Amino acid sequence: MKFEKVGVLGTGQMGAGIAQVAAKAGCAVLMADISLDIAEKAKDKIGKQLKKAITKGKIDQTEADRILAHLTPVESVDAFDRVDIGIEAATENIGLKLELFKRMDDALKPGAVLATNTSSISITLLAAATKRPDRVVGMHFMNPVPVMKLVEMIKGLQTSDETFEAVRTLAEDWGKTTTSSADYPGFMVNRLLIPYLNEACSALMEGVGTISDIDESIKLGLNHPMGPFQLADLIGLDTVLAIARVLHNGFADPKYRPNALLVKYVEAGWLGRKTGKGFYTY
Ligand SMILES: NC(=O)c1ccc[n+]([C@@H]2O[C@H](COP(=O)([O-])OP(=O)(O)OC[C@H]3O[C@@H](n4cnc5c(N)ncnc54)[C@H](O)[C@@H]3O)[C@@H](O)[C@H]2O)c1
Repeated sequence: MKFEKVGVLGTGQMGAGIAQVAAKAGCAVLMADISLDIAEKAKDKIGKQLKKAITKGKIDQTEADRILAHLTPVESVDAFDRVDIGIEAATENIGLKLELFKRMDDALKPGAVLATNTSSISITLLAAATKRPDRVVGMHFMNPVPVMKLVEMIKGLQTSDETFEAVRTLAEDWGKTTTSSADYPGFMVNRLLIPYLNEACSALMEGVGTISDIDESIKLGLNHPMGPFQLADLIGLDTVLAIARVLHNGFADPKYRPNALLVKYVEAGWLGRKTGKGFYTY
């Protein structure tokens, strides 16, 4: 399988990052979101980040121009008819992803691969919504995509070995290191991360420490680059809660019950960095 043309569906923080990494590796990338305007804004944002990288001496203008020239915002997923792989990176919601997978399945040519950047949702379930279940795979990038090395690869029950290995090789060609996870809720990274972030919210709610005390304790005490609230704000509290719900429902185990304070923050629209306010104000 050759992946020269890539379609990225959902151009938020993760989709934009995936598009940038694919373009840097030389792929022609189509970017689609709810509207052309949103996809165009995502490309502008990438442009701004590349400018910052030039200022820091990490890349030069030619390289930035080359990356941007490989990125084409499009009106909708219907423009993905020529891509070799569609990577879905829309909001973490099962109903939405099922709908988008059906749309990608209709739009993409036979033989093309459908990948998802979902943090927790069953690859097997998404694959079953398509007419090409053997060509569906989990490709879980980390945030921020251009910086973080890992791509957690997830094989659904129906994913063929050929698809899995081809997409794993693609991620490695894009400069990433891959690991392989079975298809259970949250896979490996979020199975461990989300209960930890959820527990930090419980500790805060019980008054064990302040936001800054808890963050500082974890950073200095465990040598983590960020505390749990800084990390939750970076991920997006809506995404953290959505993953917590997938773990809670998927395992039917009360130990994964989402914390009530986390639910309140999401109800308030305090989603973290992307809305300017979460546990911290930006
Ligand atoms: N945030 C993280 O740290 C992180 C890390 C790894 C994986 N993920 C996963 O990546 C995916 C995206 O997360 P994000 O952090 O980029 O979220 P985000 O909120 O930044 O972006 C979501 C994007 O999806 C778009 N979208 C919503 N409905 C759509 C539709 N019907 N059609 C097309 N686009 C639609 C939104 O407009 C938005 O641009 C989720 O599945 C999430 O679980 C997130």
